[in-house]
Amino acid sequence: MTSTYAAPAFAASATPDTHWSRDSVIYQVYPRSFRDSNGDGIGDLAGITAELGQLADLGVDAVWLSPFYRSPQRDAGYDVSDYCDVDPIFGSMADFDELMHSARGLGLRVIIDLVPNHCSSDHALFQAALAAAPGSAARDMFIFRDGRGSEDDLPPNNWQSHFGGPAWTRTVNPDGSGGQWYLHLFDSTQPDFNWDNPAVHVEFERILRFWLDRGVDGFRVDVAHALVKAPGLPDWGGTAWGGSIEGFPGEEAPMFGQPALHNVYRMWREVLAEYGPDKILCAEANVDPLERMANWVRPDQMHQAFNFPYLTSPFSAPALRSVVDSSLRAFGAVGATSTWVLSNHDVVRHATRFGYDGPGPREGDGIGSADPQPNLELGRRRAAAASLFTLGLPGAVYLYQGEELGLPDHTTLPDASRQDPTFARTSGERIGRDGCRIPLPWRAGSASAGFSGGETAADPWLPLPAAWDDYARDVQAASPTSHLALYRKALQARRIHGLGTGTLQWVEEYCTEQSLGFRNGTTLALLNTGTTPLELPRGTVLLRSQQQLGAGEALQPGEAAWLSI
Ligand code: GLC
Ligand code: CA
Repeated sequence: MTSTYAAPAFAASATPDTHWSRDSVIYQVYPRSFRDSNGDGIGDLAGITAELGQLADLGVDAVWLSPFYRSPQRDAGYDVSDYCDVDPIFGSMADFDELMHSARGLGLRVIIDLVPNHCSSDHALFQAALAAAPGSAARDMFIFRDGRGSEDDLPPNNWQSHFGGPAWTRTVNPDGSGGQWYLHLFDSTQPDFNWDNPAVHVEFERILRFWLDRGVDGFRVDVAHALVKAPGLPDWGGTAWGGSIEGFPGEEAPMFGQPALHNVYRMWREVLAEYGPDKILCAEANVDPLERMANWVRPDQMHQAFNFPYLTSPFSAPALRSVVDSSLRAFGAVGATSTWVLSNHDVVRHATRFGYDGPGPREGDGIGSADPQPNLELGRRRAAAASLFTLGLPGAVYLYQGEELGLPDHTTLPDASRQDPTFARTSGERIGRDGCRIPLPWRAGSASAGFSGGETAADPWLPLPAAWDDYARDVQAASPTSHLALYRKALQARRIHGLGTGTLQWVEEYCTEQSLGFRNGTTLALLNTGTTPLELPRGTVLLRSQQQLGAGEALQPGEAAWLSI
């Protein structure tokens, strides 16, 4: 098809050094929980379009949409059955075009989520593979193998699924006997593609072009470290997600970070370049250490990679300093900027993580009613501080919907409401990620805090906690000292002072076990992670995370500030 948006709506980035992505603030929209326009209890594209003005007002440069493609929704849309269509629960292609059109009008770029490691078992290609014979071209689109053991009844290797249980499922032959096994690094309904097969490359280049033709500004690439597997699929003794354990260094994980992977992204970069210099790729490449992750953002590959070590840093001055330093070093060494991320749809939100003294009960894997509960007041205060500190750093920032409201996780969700396959696949041992995916509160005093439009809305797909009226956007929009107001002011000041394109210099006097300080241009950013107040230096206070405090008051424990010096 011809492009709907042939005319570039943004001035093209003149040089690689001034590329828009280097200092961008990108807001992650998780469509099913953002805003429900038609009252069926699930967020949708029309709901996003209706509220895009709020995001433009907030001051972000772009939005990233998590998957809205056709999908049986076994993994909340990360199980795609048709990459080139919108799932009816989210709307239609016309709704997508409308969203793009509105975003353009508001000066917002739009990047979308590409899931190339696996599709849904409902995808026509996988159904064709199941129907075809072993060794056929149709099966070669995926990773089918004969089993081990005299009866072929043992999986082809010992790999485990990220969501728990084995990474292999056995097929059933037409006569009811056991057939070949297929690989799925995630749920059994998410078969992995075979990236050794050129036909898979052709298929994904077609998908890239399909969306580029519709005007998208780029792609966030799901599990961008996993597509290619080591020849022979050798057994692996490290963790399911590639983490090191004794004798099994993460860089040797046979399902992650294989060298041939990088050629895929070189090819994609060329496809993007056909559409001008501004289209971007962002890697979800969760590999250690940062020096290795930086391989994804070499100049001929992707533009950005999510900074997971930053995301997992505790609220501690030395830990934050160390990860900021190693990030600037590792990404700088390949000519890229760092991204800074505090929350996303897979981890416990930072307003909850920081609500514990010491590590939370289940790092990164959801919190349930039986776990110690966070101190919400502490978490929210520290979250505001961490966000202000983060927004002062040079580079690009990813925000996750709801963090601008200071939202915590739902940590007492009834088990009966849980949807994340992790919960079922581990018989509840791992709580899963539902707690950070709760629908957003828009209007205090309305059913489900105004998440759903329409007179008679169905219950939202996950229930909101009772007390979320306090977090509702309308309440915060009316208050000059709300969490939302802090984000808006910080994004504006970040732009005015060019913090995203600046450089960081630590101010040693403030860098202690309890606090950090850095200069970025004429701005001094301070963070107090300790337990005692910190005198503010002379200078004009631009912004403090506890906005109700006067300019002359000391920086409180769990507070950050920006000063003009
Ligand atoms: C990524 C997504 C996560 C999904 C998984 C499988 O990690 O962020 O939500 O479950 O990939 O696609
Ligand atoms: Ca809906």
